[in-house]
Amino acid sequence: MHLAHLRLRDFRNYARLDVDFAPGFHLLLGDNAQGKTNILEAAYLVATLRSFRGIGGAHMVRHGQKGYFVGSQVVGQGEHETKMYWSARERSLSLDNQPVRKLTDYLGVLRTVVFCSEDTLLVKGPGRARRRFLDLLLSQTHPTYLSLLQRYALALRSRNALLKRPLVDAAALESFSRELISAGEVIMRLRHELVPKFSPLARLAYRRISNDAEDLRLDYLSSVKHDFAVDLAQSQARERTYRSTLIGPHRDEVQMLLNDRPAGQFGSEGQKRTLAIALKVAQAEYLTGLHGSPPVLLMDDIMGELDLKRRTGLLPLLERAHVARGQVFMTATEANWPKELGRDVQRWIVKGGTLASL
Ligand SMILES: Nc1ncnc2c1ncn2[C@@H]1O[C@H](COP(=O)(O)OP(=O)(O)OP(=O)(O)O)[C@@H](O)[C@H]1O
Ligand SMILES: [Mg+2]
Repeated sequence: MHLAHLRLRDFRNYARLDVDFAPGFHLLLGDNAQGKTNILEAAYLVATLRSFRGIGGAHMVRHGQKGYFVGSQVVGQGEHETKMYWSARERSLSLDNQPVRKLTDYLGVLRTVVFCSEDTLLVKGPGRARRRFLDLLLSQTHPTYLSLLQRYALALRSRNALLKRPLVDAAALESFSRELISAGEVIMRLRHELVPKFSPLARLAYRRISNDAEDLRLDYLSSVKHDFAVDLAQSQARERTYRSTLIGPHRDEVQMLLNDRPAGQFGSEGQKRTLAIALKVAQAEYLTGLHGSPPVLLMDDIMGELDLKRRTGLLPLLERAHVARGQVFMTATEANWPKELGRDVQRWIVKGGTLASL
């Protein structure tokens, strides 16, 4: 799968961009604040309809303009054309010139995995970051997962709002609980099934990048010990005290152990960074195994942060993407680009919102 064409209008610091990308490695070189990350952001936006910087549409509109347009041509199983326009008043999304009605028809046209320095939050950050990682992977592999998450989030919000009232309406609570349990049970089951499949991939990736330094293991720790419905009923008294829903998939954790010790508490900075990258490598490999072709890798500045040994550990992944006619976009400044990637790289110079092939 690869992003064959990208078209930007008033997106971030790009007034106008039309560029073709072949499969293979693309190195986006340039000084700071020239628009390297913005290109990755646009590619990710095509894939997920979100920014990996976790911000809304308004930030992505070029200063002083009304709206942005991001269009693409993606070559995978077939060939697809995507178009999206965003302004405060109007949004539109089309796939092959047809308006998109259901997100499930759209997501999956382009699959990407982002590597960026914020990935260390997967190890250091709150449980929410790790749950979101699992959820993203499941929505990339289960067409209905996203709507399940939305159903759960809505039931949770309504239920929590109800619990905040001075007098809780028992019938309403019961009906929100039913919805919470029905969506939540499936979410937990899918996450439970994913982790043991995913963990060996992450373990292997960690070994490769760190040169066999430590052993990594991931476990899914559920806040539900026996049965969601029973446990929820039993937590009622505590719920009244805390005025919020205390168990369910929104409280679950993914434990990450390095040599049997929680990485977040005991890992060194280098170990945490390696672990974060290993998770992303494993994500890419899991998707490749499932879909038969590698996702497009978007690597923002991470190579420069790694020492040569660890960079070398990443090369097999990049190599495989290459062999399978996948695609990798990497940003770097002139000073820190990984020169060992050598001659197979297509180099681009990014300067003040323009892209020039070298
Ligand atoms: N909505 C916007 N409109 C116009 N310019 C913007 C907008 N949002 C961000 N920019 C500008 O885009 C420029 C490039 O941003 P980008 O994050 O892509 O830089 P970069 O090349 O990745 O730099 P670095 O090497 O520092 O990561 C910055 O100068 C930023 O101020
Ligand atoms: Mg950047």
